[in-house]
Amino acid sequence: MDGASRTAPASVAVVGAGYVGTPTALVLASFGHRVWLAERDSARRAALASGRSMALEEGLEELLVEQLAAGRLELTERAADAARLASFCFVCVATPTGPDGRADLSDLFSVVDELRSHLAPGAILVTKSTVPPGTAEEIAARLGRPDVAVVSNPEFLREGSAISDTQRPDRTVVGSADEAAARAVAELFAPTGAPVVVTDTRTAELIKYGANAFLATKLSYINSLADLATRLGADVAALSRGLGLDPRIGSSFLRPGPGWGGPCLPKDAAALLAVAEDAGVSLSLVEAAIAANAAHQDAVVRDIAGLAGPQGRVAVLGVSFKAHTRDRRDSPSLAVARQLVAEGLHLVAYDPSVPAGDPELAALGLSSVASVAEAARGADVIAALTEWPEFADLDWAGLGGLVARRLAYDARGIFDARAARDAGFRVLGLAAR
Ligand code: UGA
Repeated sequence: MDGASRTAPASVAVVGAGYVGTPTALVLASFGHRVWLAERDSARRAALASGRSMALEEGLEELLVEQLAAGRLELTERAADAARLASFCFVCVATPTGPDGRADLSDLFSVVDELRSHLAPGAILVTKSTVPPGTAEEIAARLGRPDVAVVSNPEFLREGSAISDTQRPDRTVVGSADEAAARAVAELFAPTGAPVVVTDTRTAELIKYGANAFLATKLSYINSLADLATRLGADVAALSRGLGLDPRIGSSFLRPGPGWGGPCLPKDAAALLAVAEDAGVSLSLVEAAIAANAAHQDAVVRDIAGLAGPQGRVAVLGVSFKAHTRDRRDSPSLAVARQLVAEGLHLVAYDPSVPAGDPELAALGLSSVASVAEAARGADVIAALTEWPEFADLDWAGLGGLVARRLAYDARGIFDARAARDAGFRVLGLAAR
């Protein structure tokens, strides 16, 4: 997509080459803008400079190589160096959960401190990091640069489809006390063709938390309903489809799984609750969604442990928090696996994004191997916990000759249950009847 003809090229700084900053920088460069991407981690910077990304993202490395070659993208170590020449400076640093559930803004504020005396006169500072409502105002006060407008421009991209989500977002949200600055930021993304919501900073910040907490709530609802369906002997896949075809409900985010996780939904749901608590408002629905997620994971653990039996052996298929990413932060699969290990079960994990003998998994008590077949050898249960496409097409007859018992548990609705049954497996779980 080349939008250079629609938008005058601008000079843009992006601070933080993570899951959000890198796609933002690349897509803006592909729209014809001149982009400086600041990253303090030298290994990550060196990888990017040579056209490689640490993240597994379709289309990212191609775009990276293309934009580096076109001379529209440059990497720097310091945020100040990236910002000096830029009319727009996007801050895309992590805002992890602090000890009290609130977002930890220390990285964000240290970038603001670093930028204070280096932002060009009249530059626009844009926050893409996910932050509690009121943060943009705090940034403006801390920055002490009345000539610099602060714009909140939350990000809605998903890991694993970061490039296409950035190229074709559902909406662009820009919030600022300075409407012209907000519109100027939206204009950078004009080639996406996405509808634009122009608002104040607090609303823009709340839209982001509100969206992620809504998605989490929707998932807790379908997961709880899936638990009920399996106990009633109902068909979970048909249930999900039957609900989702109603456009008022919508079919996306209606796939049951072993609970929702990842680096964003749990963090943002907790942070939203803290914001509500500070404002004296009860968000009991979001509280219930978090509690339901934990209860649902307990149910998944009980089911797998019950199938495997005491000291049973479980082949865990998938450890990343969802397919198409190697990110394991707050992975529901690992949350389930941890509890199974605590119950005395023996776990052997296979995930296409994880090399055999992964030390981090070993520390959790899981051995990791290089194929489904190796994981299945001697297993009492084969359990799918992440929906990697290759798990849809397993050689069940071959696996039947390797396992101790022909039991399969599908938490993602990914197995070909008929093929598994034809090979003599009993298939249980959220999507199996
Ligand atoms: C999420 C949001 O979807 C993005 O819009 C947002 O920009 C991002 O957080 C963020 O705040 O940065 P992401 O963390 O990449 O994106 O993951 P999701 O695709 O939302 O999945 C979250 C969890 O829900 C995963 O554990 C996934 O397996 C689970 N899930 C998702 C289901 O179990 N079923 C579904 O139908 C969809």
